[in-house]
Amino acid sequence: SDTEKGTYEHYMLKEINDQPAAMRKIIQEYQDEDENLKIDPAIIDQLKDSDRLYVIAAGTSYHAGLIGKEFFEKWAGVPTEVHVASEFVYNTPLLSEKPMFIFISQSGETADSRAVLVEIKKRGHKSLTVTNVPGSTLSREADQTLILHAGPEIAVASTKAYTAQIAVLSILAQVAARESGRDIEINLMQELAKVTTAITAIIDDAPVIEQIVNEYLETTRNAFFIGRAMDYYVGLEGALKLKEISYIQAEGFAGGELKHGTIALIEENTPVFALATQEKINLNIRGNAQEVAARGAKVCMVSMEGLDQEGDTYVIPHVHEMLTPLVSVVVYQFIAYFAALHRGNDVDKPRNLAKSVTVE
Ligand code: G6P
Repeated sequence: SDTEKGTYEHYMLKEINDQPAAMRKIIQEYQDEDENLKIDPAIIDQLKDSDRLYVIAAGTSYHAGLIGKEFFEKWAGVPTEVHVASEFVYNTPLLSEKPMFIFISQSGETADSRAVLVEIKKRGHKSLTVTNVPGSTLSREADQTLILHAGPEIAVASTKAYTAQIAVLSILAQVAARESGRDIEINLMQELAKVTTAITAIIDDAPVIEQIVNEYLETTRNAFFIGRAMDYYVGLEGALKLKEISYIQAEGFAGGELKHGTIALIEENTPVFALATQEKINLNIRGNAQEVAARGAKVCMVSMEGLDQEGDTYVIPHVHEMLTPLVSVVVYQFIAYFAALHRGNDVDKPRNLAKSVTVE
């Protein structure tokens, strides 16, 4: 069944491997008989009626929200802010006139997010929960819900919920864009199908990624993840995954910001994972990689077919530029998994962490 590991050694490994099936399920659930994208019209009306979106989340779900912001702004043309729930509660920013709140939560039970929901409901604002768990607290208490259809996620380190969140947010933003008459040249379902194939290719490549871990992470006590634009956000998630289960001190940074401080930390053999999946910043991030390499860093360059250069460590299959996080993150999920495994850590139940945090 869905809640059993089956032949997998860990839930996390199973859940990484579940991702192509989860993508297929989402594609199926979010289209109508004519294969058009399908979202409850009430949600789209709410979205069209608002002047700004406030995405509220924690942990990995927050990182998915950062990618969602790109979809909402670039496709649907709606200004979007993404906030860490625990900060928003006590340090609420000035709100727009017609805000809409989107809560992203795998479990639908995170207390920090619920505290925000309670507060904004008091103020009479509209809310949507994007969750993997129908009937969860955040789902019951928000005006609307979108379900992730990723199947139960058991491992503390979130994997398939993150990619499912991004996929569902992309569909929501696309439908909103169309309904607002914006001219968007992308067949999203086709592109998500390509993403599914690309994820499968990376899963087949797990042994290759295990070798990368052998080469870069066996003895290190720290690691950096750099990227720009969406690749920066994926780097944040890559660093979080690695921290959570391998206990290696890891940080994600915007490539261009390195020189303003962080580059001081680079020593001989410091591992730096650099992501290059966006044409606009391909040369910039490669420049940043050279800057750290010149100071002794061991750079693991992960790029995308079409933008790759000789010497890149790993090249992911080509997918639509806006959807690359769905694919590149899988490389980082495996990197974290193998790093934790090789250190003999409890992969599914890392120390000090809980699957969902139901206290503020
Ligand atoms: C906990 C988990 C994280 C998760 C976060 C948010 O800290 O350990 O993996 O990302 O909560 O959880 P949610 O269920 O709201 O997505």
